Amino acid sequence: SRTTFGKHLGCYVDEKKMRLLTGFYGNYANTNTPSACLDICIQGGFIYAGVQYASECFCGESIPQLSGTVADEMCDMRCPGDPTQHCGGYFTMNIYETGLSKFKPRVTQTTSTKKEPVQIVFLLTLNGRALRQVHRLINALYRSNHYFYIHVDKRQDYLHRKLSVLEHQFPNIKLASSRFSTIWGGASLLTMLLAAMKDCMALNWQWDFIINLSESDFPIKSLEELENFLSANKGLNFVKSHGREVQRFIKKQGLDKTFIECDTHMWRVGERKLPRGIVIDGGSDWIALSPEFVSYIIGKQDELLAGLDVIFRHTLLPAESFFHTVLRNSRFCDSYVDNNLHVTNWKRKLGCKCQHKHVVDWCGCSPNDFRTEDWPRIQNTQDRQLFFARKFEPVINQEIVNRVEQYIGFKDHYLLPNLEAYWQSIYNIEDLTASTDDIILTHAASIVRHNARILLEEGCRIEPDEIVEITSYNYADVYKGNLILHKAIIHDRIEILIETWYKPKKHMELNFDNPYVDYIKIFKVSSDYDQKEQTFRNLANVLGPLSEPVLQYQFSAQLDKKSENLTIIWLDPAGAIGDVNSIHVDETNLTNFIKPNLKPPLLPGIWKVGLFDQNKIIVSTKFLISPLEYFSGKDLSPQESNIIHSGSQNSYKNFSHLKVNNFIPEHEESILLQKISQSNVQRIHQDLKEWIDGLSSEFYNVLGSCIMTNKEFHDKLACGHHKFENCVSTQWSSLSPDPKGSIGKLNKLNGRLE
Ligand code: UDX
Repeated sequence: SRTTFGKHLGCYVDEKKMRLLTGFYGNYANTNTPSACLDICIQGGFIYAGVQYASECFCGESIPQLSGTVADEMCDMRCPGDPTQHCGGYFTMNIYETGLSKFKPRVTQTTSTKKEPVQIVFLLTLNGRALRQVHRLINALYRSNHYFYIHVDKRQDYLHRKLSVLEHQFPNIKLASSRFSTIWGGASLLTMLLAAMKDCMALNWQWDFIINLSESDFPIKSLEELENFLSANKGLNFVKSHGREVQRFIKKQGLDKTFIECDTHMWRVGERKLPRGIVIDGGSDWIALSPEFVSYIIGKQDELLAGLDVIFRHTLLPAESFFHTVLRNSRFCDSYVDNNLHVTNWKRKLGCKCQHKHVVDWCGCSPNDFRTEDWPRIQNTQDRQLFFARKFEPVINQEIVNRVEQYIGFKDHYLLPNLEAYWQSIYNIEDLTASTDDIILTHAASIVRHNARILLEEGCRIEPDEIVEITSYNYADVYKGNLILHKAIIHDRIEILIETWYKPKKHMELNFDNPYVDYIKIFKVSSDYDQKEQTFRNLANVLGPLSEPVLQYQFSAQLDKKSENLTIIWLDPAGAIGDVNSIHVDETNLTNFIKPNLKPPLLPGIWKVGLFDQNKIIVSTKFLISPLEYFSGKDLSPQESNIIHSGSQNSYKNFSHLKVNNFIPEHEESILLQKISQSNVQRIHQDLKEWIDGLSSEFYNVLGSCIMTNKEFHDKLACGHHKFENCVSTQWSSLSPDPKGSIGKLNKLNGRLE
């Protein structure tokens, strides 16, 4: 009667693949406790054990129905005359290897007849600096009966600092006290999740589900819909399985490899064999778990948990398999639901470009950010049991977040000031790395001096002082520039806070005589290129001698028909060719990037990059490698300038054979440029600042400034002929109101943040 094995646990075997491994005969007088029997079933799925028959009870009574019973029913059988006594008996036990096991997931209820209240712990695992989006996520999910447990990557002190205040404002928000450097795909992600769950248990919160979410998740149904659904499905555990052949999954995930996490890197150290007798399962690391299951996994380790603990401490992307595997092999296998409640924006062609290689010895994939054009994908989830979507990044696209909010019932958008604006901090004076952010501070100080010169033209003398914050500013999903909040002395005595708005200039130059020019859409240099989102993260193109510049190009679709080989030339400020690349354009790489082979330090000054067809230029652009005013947070010394500002021309290859028109300077000009570069190395102190400022004003426009007024100056502050606006009423200012991006006020009547 082997067809019945495991059925009571929802575990089904593929009978055709069952193979008898061993069988034995004995009595089970000493093993007749329910837990011993369950142990047999725990191995269910891969190795199944079955009690074939028992003839009689040791207590002298006969068992009414013997055949076809499954292990735990047999073992839990009581003597008919005396139910306090278990039956003992004779049995034969056969152990089968089943190979593939079929698993029938639980069907969930959509509605509940009697809606019971449900309490949720939202376990937020956060990284990055998208503070306002995290606030928005908390606003959307907050009710006073739910809980927020927040872990912030140990290296992200900005986000941690800003969110810490919530702990004091709300009794149901707690920040993790043990923090981990949770690298992408690292074993530490699981360590962190388990530590967080343990902490949640210790807090004595009353909850029915714990749901993990990141900074890029957002609800796509109302909280009430989620509550209704979970209320009808208490006790179940939601995880998503890969849905493919197990061996292929194991290979793709690298589960058959041992990894060691060390120095914030997952090192692959060798092959390994996974234990027999365990069903390996996995898929997504976004989960919703019951308190019973969580208490089991963080409680006293049994053999299964102890064994899996060793394996998963050395596993890549551990959270994608651990919970699934424990569920499938434990008494909780019946509570497994194959649904992670999420819709994920997978675009494998973009997301599987091996972009995590610097952190893990593996090629991982990441989902893309939702953009406005992905809206149908969210809409299509309307009738499905999906309550969250990922990923959302307002710095990439905020319109989609606005739409989602309206879709899930936010009716007050028309009342919100700055709905279309998004601000994200780039630098904050309190950041642990702030004092050594040499290039960003050099750059910001120069922009602020630039603004001071503009103000002086209007008779307003300010003395710029410390940089407090740098923020990137988008409006209607268009990058509008950066904002620098800084201290300054005005009227020779008063310290004020000024915010200055500026934007990089555009430098693309097209050669309209060249027939290819019509195909050029983007030709731009910056750093921190994101291959998945096909955009630079360094939006203001702030580059210094130690930066790694990257060229992004985009051609319109017609060019691929010509299937062309084109040449890219990188020219340094002294007129020498630093590198040459050739690119082959076809339909698969119309948008792409090139990282030149240039050794740091790069020669400071204005670099040029050109795209050539044979020796004819199609398009060129300039980019600034700014000299450094500071090194390790201190003014640059003459010795440091000698090393950092003299470039690395001796590492260039010899490209003297290259002949291109109107791009490389003529011999005499080249000699002059070399001389200038050599003398620039001597520039320090005021002379260095002037050099930096001259270059910076060629690359950036200052667009305005406002001040944080104190009571002394009501709304506007006169300074010479200039009248400063108050930042609070200045639309672009990071200090102007942003209700969607700030934590709302608690409405005590309904427990929401408004
Ligand atoms: C996703 C899924 O999580 C994973 O299942 C899939 O296989 C790969 O794609 P991805 O979107 O690439 O991951 O990662 P991301 O959302 O950036 O990070 C996952 C979690 O780790 C987040 O909670 C994030 O905050 C955290 N993280 C990431 C850190 O804490 N520190 C980091 O340096 C990177």
